[in-house]
Amino acid sequence: MKKRVLAGMRATGRLHLGNYLGGVKGMLALQDNPAYETLYMVADMHAVTTPYSVEELQSHRREVLIDYLAAGLDPEKSVLFLQSDVMLHGELAFYLSSVMTIARMQHLPTFKDKVKQYPEHATMALLNYPLLMAADILMYKADKVPVGVDQEPHIEVAREVARKMNAQYGLSFPEAIRFATEGEYVPSLLGAGKMSKSVEGSAIDVTDSLDEIEAKLKKAPTDSGKGDEVPKTGGVANLLTLVELFEGVEAKQKYEQQYVGEGIRYGDLKKQLAAVIFKELQPIQQKRAELVADSAYVDSVITKGAEKARAIALETVNEVRTAMGFRS
Ligand code: ADP
Ligand code: TRP
Repeated sequence: MKKRVLAGMRATGRLHLGNYLGGVKGMLALQDNPAYETLYMVADMHAVTTPYSVEELQSHRREVLIDYLAAGLDPEKSVLFLQSDVMLHGELAFYLSSVMTIARMQHLPTFKDKVKQYPEHATMALLNYPLLMAADILMYKADKVPVGVDQEPHIEVAREVARKMNAQYGLSFPEAIRFATEGEYVPSLLGAGKMSKSVEGSAIDVTDSLDEIEAKLKKAPTDSGKGDEVPKTGGVANLLTLVELFEGVEAKQKYEQQYVGEGIRYGDLKKQLAAVIFKELQPIQQKRAELVADSAYVDSVITKGAEKARAIALETVNEVRTAMGFRS
C-alpha cells in the first residue's frame, strides 16, 4: 500500500513566498512521487482560532484552493479538499482531546505566541488548534506532512497523540514526520523573524506584480554593503537567503565575496532578485487568472475532493468509535 501524505494551509489570506517554498513546494514534490498518495486540504476550520471576518473566510477558503491549483497541485494526482467539508475532523479532534492534558497544550510555543499576539482571544479553539491538526493528520494515517519548520511542534503533538491512542485503544496510527524543503524557513523582508501573513511588510505574495516585488525589496533594510564579515543575521543575511533560494548558492557566494571585497550594490542585487522571483511566480499567476474565470471547474474539484476525503475519514472515525466504545 502507498504511504499517505497530508498537508494543509490555514485559510487566512493570500499565499506568500514562505507558504510557497516551505509548504507548496513540498506538497508538489510528494504529489509527483509515485510512492505516495497525497491529500491536501484548506484548513478553513483552523482559521477561526484567531480573530477573523466571516466574509473574508468565505472567500479565502476558495482562494487558497485556487492557489493550490495554480501552483500545480493536480486533482488527478492529489485529493484536494476543504477541511470543513469533512466534518468528521471535528469529531476526531474531540476524541483525541481526551488523551492530552491542558498543561501540554498550554506550553506549546505556538499557543503562547498567539496569546501574546491576541491577548483578548485566548480561546478553547486556539488551545485545541494542535489537536484539530493532529486529527487532520491521523484521519488519513499520514506518514509525511510537508510543512515549514515552524509547524514542527504541532507534528510532535500529532506523534504523541498517535502513540497515546495506540497504547490506550489498541489502534495503529502511524507517527508522521515532517517533509522538509530547502525553503523550510523563509525569512522576513524586514530583517527579523520569518516571512508571515500576520506581519505587515514581511512578505512577498505569490500574486505580487514585478513592480510590487521591487517596491517591497526596496524597503528591505541593508547596510553599507561592505565589511570584514558577512552578517549572519538581520536584513542583509535575509536578502542573501532569498538570493540562495531563488538564484542558487553560487549567486549567494558571489555576493558574499563582493561584501568582503569591492562591496555589494544592493540596488542591483534587489532588481535581479525581483526579476528571478517574478519569473517563478508569473506562470502561477497566469494559471490563477484562468482558474478564477472557470468557477464551475473549481466547484467540481471541491465537490469531488470532499467525497474522496470523506470516504477515507469515515473508515478511520469508525475504527476509533469502535475502539473507544461508541459502537458495538
Ligand atoms: P503564516 O505564518 O504566514 O500565517 P501559515 O501558518 O498559514 O502561514 O502557514 C502555511 C504553511 O506555510 C505551513 O506549512 C508553514 O510551515 C509554511 N510557512 C509559513 N511561513 C513560512 C516561512 N516563512 N518559511 C517557510 N515556511 C513557511
Ligand atoms: N497549522 C498549519 C499552518 O499553520 C495548517 C494545518 C492545519 C496543517 N492542519 C494541518 C498543516 C495538517 C499540515 C497538516 O500552516
